[in-house]
Amino acid sequence: MICITPKKHLQGEILVPGDKSISHRAVMLGALAKGRTRITHFLQGADCLSTIACFRAMGVEIENLPDEVLVHGRGLHGLAAPAGALDVGNSGTTARLLSGILAGQSFSSTITGDASIQSRPMGRIITPLSAMGASIESEKGNGCAPLRIAGRPLQGVSYTSPVASAQVKSCVLLAGLYADKETSVTEPYLSRNHTELMLSYFGATVTSQDTTVTILPGPTLTAREIAVPGDISSAAYFIAAGLLVPDSEILLRHVGINPTRDGMLRVCRAMGADMELLNVSHTGGEPTADILVRTSPLTGVTIGGELIPTLIDELPILAVMAAFAQGETIIKDARELKVKESNRIDAMVQNLSAMGADITATEDGMIIRGGRPLHGADIRTNLDHRIAMSFAIAGLAASGETRIAQGECVDISYPGFYQALESL
Ligand code: S3P
Repeated sequence: MICITPKKHLQGEILVPGDKSISHRAVMLGALAKGRTRITHFLQGADCLSTIACFRAMGVEIENLPDEVLVHGRGLHGLAAPAGALDVGNSGTTARLLSGILAGQSFSSTITGDASIQSRPMGRIITPLSAMGASIESEKGNGCAPLRIAGRPLQGVSYTSPVASAQVKSCVLLAGLYADKETSVTEPYLSRNHTELMLSYFGATVTSQDTTVTILPGPTLTAREIAVPGDISSAAYFIAAGLLVPDSEILLRHVGINPTRDGMLRVCRAMGADMELLNVSHTGGEPTADILVRTSPLTGVTIGGELIPTLIDELPILAVMAAFAQGETIIKDARELKVKESNRIDAMVQNLSAMGADITATEDGMIIRGGRPLHGADIRTNLDHRIAMSFAIAGLAASGETRIAQGECVDISYPGFYQALESL
């Protein structure tokens, strides 16, 4: 049980852990490349450790050292059949991206994971992979993991995805490495583009136009150095803390600000945040900056449309900010929140209501009428790391004590989160 009490002032500097999406992809592409890929500022969260474990189980030597991760790549066709099921733990990114890779191998495999993973929709990848000629099925016939995949040669397709999901897009692109001709994916709105950027960086031919990405099959991927930027999705909690807690100033160093991920910053500005980007730099194809935030009065906003994929993981903490803002905030077009690590619409409505907020669930999001004083409550996380961190921040700006059961689930994406908060 984590207990959070109100704070009168926060001050300090934080280097948030490496980006989760980029850390996963660095291990995966490193494994499929020729040579040794060196990754620095790798996220040592449980999700990324699941990715390492899965590739080790397929014969890839991966050294997880204190300051770097070294992936001894085996080439596009060098993975070995795993001895047992590949366990992705809680990680949807591992499950979906790995499925794309496994579909094109010359061996059969099974992907499994925890209770949350076994209830998340996999039909969204089974459909396009099947169109490519893959043999992939849900063991229980419910469209969820465990997934049984019999690797085989694949056909290139042009797939139009009904959801703006980087996991779906990346799954299809990775399968496209093993196809007989080019593969393209079109999505309704642009989702995070780390896979495209990193595939190009490793030597694949990838082109993007509007919301369509095309990849040519059979490249030789070459090992690279990857300096993972800080995760903007982890920085988001401290941005919110700096804005909400009185008399605060927080500097977040070296945060990734890729435009397909920076929707939170745009919404903060629209809400009236006092926020500056310093030392903007473009090393390794992923832009980064230091983010300085100070306590600010916030106003409600409407968040929807193409903005949603650029801040999908930040919506829980944005809902917390909205509860402290003046006026109404509408979050719409965000049905995807229902199929994340938990149903995040339900989790936000239940827990923010318990703290005294005025919040209503809608079909595709939520409406928050901000400005009511919040009080501490018993928070139910459903083992969802982003719900735990969002309410740790809410508790800093509420009255009384906020108790977060199973708060250690933050280790999925941010080991050391509570210590970082303490340091402020
Ligand atoms: C991720 C994509 C997002 C995000 C998840 C990580 C990725 O999911 O919510 O935390 O690394 O590709 P969707 O693309 O399915 O929305």
